[in-house]
Amino acid sequence: MITPNTIEQIKNRLDIIDVVGEFVKLKKRGSNYLGNCPFHNEKTPSFTVSPAKELYKCFGCGKSGNTITFVMEHEKASYVDALKWLAARYNIEVEETQVSDQQKQQLQVADSLFAINNFAGKYFDDQLFNTEEGTKIALSYLKERGFREEIIKKFQVGYSPQQRDSLTKALLSNQFNRELLPRTGLVVVRNETDLQDNYRGRIIFPIHNNSGKIIGFGARVIGKAEKAPKYINTPENELYVKSKILYGSFFARMAIDKQDECLLVEGYTDVVSLHQAGIENVVASGGTSLTVDQLRLVKKYTNNLTIIYDGDSAGVKAALRGLDMALEEGLNVRLVLIPDNEDPDSYVNKVGKEAFQKFIKENKKDFIIFQLEVMLKDAGNDLNQKNTLVNHVAETISKINKAEDFTKQQEYIKQCAALLKIDEGGLISLVNKLKRDKIAKDEKKQSPSDNQYDDQSPPPAEEEINYLASQDEKHERNVLRVLLDYGLNPYQDNTTVAEYIFNEVKDFPFDNPQLESLISTYKIQYEAGQNPNTKTFLYHEDQTIRELVISITLFPYELSINWDKLYEGKKITTIDNSEEDVTMSVNYYKLKKLKKMFDQNQADMEKASIDDQMLLIRIHKELKDLERDIAKKLGTVILK
Ligand code: CTP
Ligand code: MN
Repeated sequence: MITPNTIEQIKNRLDIIDVVGEFVKLKKRGSNYLGNCPFHNEKTPSFTVSPAKELYKCFGCGKSGNTITFVMEHEKASYVDALKWLAARYNIEVEETQVSDQQKQQLQVADSLFAINNFAGKYFDDQLFNTEEGTKIALSYLKERGFREEIIKKFQVGYSPQQRDSLTKALLSNQFNRELLPRTGLVVVRNETDLQDNYRGRIIFPIHNNSGKIIGFGARVIGKAEKAPKYINTPENELYVKSKILYGSFFARMAIDKQDECLLVEGYTDVVSLHQAGIENVVASGGTSLTVDQLRLVKKYTNNLTIIYDGDSAGVKAALRGLDMALEEGLNVRLVLIPDNEDPDSYVNKVGKEAFQKFIKENKKDFIIFQLEVMLKDAGNDLNQKNTLVNHVAETISKINKAEDFTKQQEYIKQCAALLKIDEGGLISLVNKLKRDKIAKDEKKQSPSDNQYDDQSPPPAEEEINYLASQDEKHERNVLRVLLDYGLNPYQDNTTVAEYIFNEVKDFPFDNPQLESLISTYKIQYEAGQNPNTKTFLYHEDQTIRELVISITLFPYELSINWDKLYEGKKITTIDNSEEDVTMSVNYYKLKKLKKMFDQNQADMEKASIDDQMLLIRIHKELKDLERDIAKKLGTVILK
């Protein structure tokens, strides 16, 4: 673990413009810098970097964070590696501390599993090439299937002999921890104490992590699987988490990056064969439906995913499941089916590299269209099923909601309407309705209050509009912005900005629970003397809080304040308008809340009994007085 002291030193030295500027061409724009976002393709820059707040946000794709998260995202590095990268850049010596006993134990287990896997990998390799059993039974089988030695060696394919405990014995005589062996899946316990090899008589495909270390194995029977399962796979353990693994990613990632496309097949043999043919941008899912983690793994390298399955594979339907997620992740997903009972492995062996690539290129079909065709075939003439299908397609299309994908969406609507033989206009309105429903649902989640008070200023990005569920919330966010930025400053010589704000808003609670919880967290930290501010929150351990704080501090609030007029007659040389900013923001917020109370009051009035009406009139008058007070303080601010 890197010591807090080192982390502190790194944070103090960080210059976000310097770090981001190394990868993104930045232009100064006001107090911020602007450039083309490195995380998505764009022509007009919407990637904003604030040197003062040490954060970035892209108003196009929504990515945001601080200098450390930038390095993590951009360099695909872990938190620790990002810190080390920055330390090296600023010549800061990295101090590392002892880890806790529990962490140590976990690390030790992982290390031991790596060591066992590594040993076993070499053992299987040796068995395949250097024993009579291995060459006769396994190597000959692999060669018969067309695998050449160099590719077998590259993927470290091996063989586990038939004897019941040959690997177990080798492991034990090499002092590997007996207790841990079963956890690797290489060894099974029989009759409580008896250890036995688990993959006897099988071909072994080691599975590597992205730095090339073995995290698990797939063990295939030789020839046809009749009695036994075709594959035995590593059980989930400290290293092997199936939902996060794509077989072959270690060997494929460079090629995926370079060709800006990832091919996804089902099996180990497909990956190895395609590599042998010189098609290296390929990984395998193991025939199950894709998980979000796997999609994100792909997305690190490319936005283009091409799924290649054999035509009658049960895997096709499995793969289709969950692909809506891929759309939400912004991936372009295409599908190709290999014809005539072939799979990618046999097909590439039959037709060769060029013909294979040509076939993929000419036959890859967009996932949405593909899915629709499959389901249309299933539905046949059943009207009910067809109706369900229309809704399903609309639902899928409505998930494409990035602004830059608008044309893509239009194109889908056109093609799907044609396939479904329905009116294009009908499909458009259905998709739009689903989009609206989703926005409404998200808004409900964000803020329970109604959106009654529309302001005039249009925010810059559509996503941001959705995010800001209501104008009430805009003012809640604005109060938080000044609190985070100026909370620790003195306010009018006798108090602090934070105290002033706590006091002013105590009768006007926030509607948005997330924002309410942020202000409470701030208050707790403030009262504990921890001096919270924007920066401390930007490094908060909770990612949702970090993102919330970024969206709050970077969002360009436009209060209709006429600063020139406000300062009229006052001679100011250095402009520090933070105190005005605080006062304005707080009062403006209170005024909005009051307006809402008025309207509520009015509505109650109409329903109330005479007695209650008298009370309401009194309240109304008090509110009016309060409003006048605030309006006076606001001076020139024009109320909407
Ligand atoms: N699979 C599995 N368990 C099985 C069958 C399949 O885990 N009993 C996974 C494996 O990851 C396998 C993939 O699903 O690689 C695809 O299955 P399949 O096409 O049957 O196997 P291949 O590896 O392609 O083997 P081959 O080409 O030799 O038939
Ligand atoms: Mn196969």
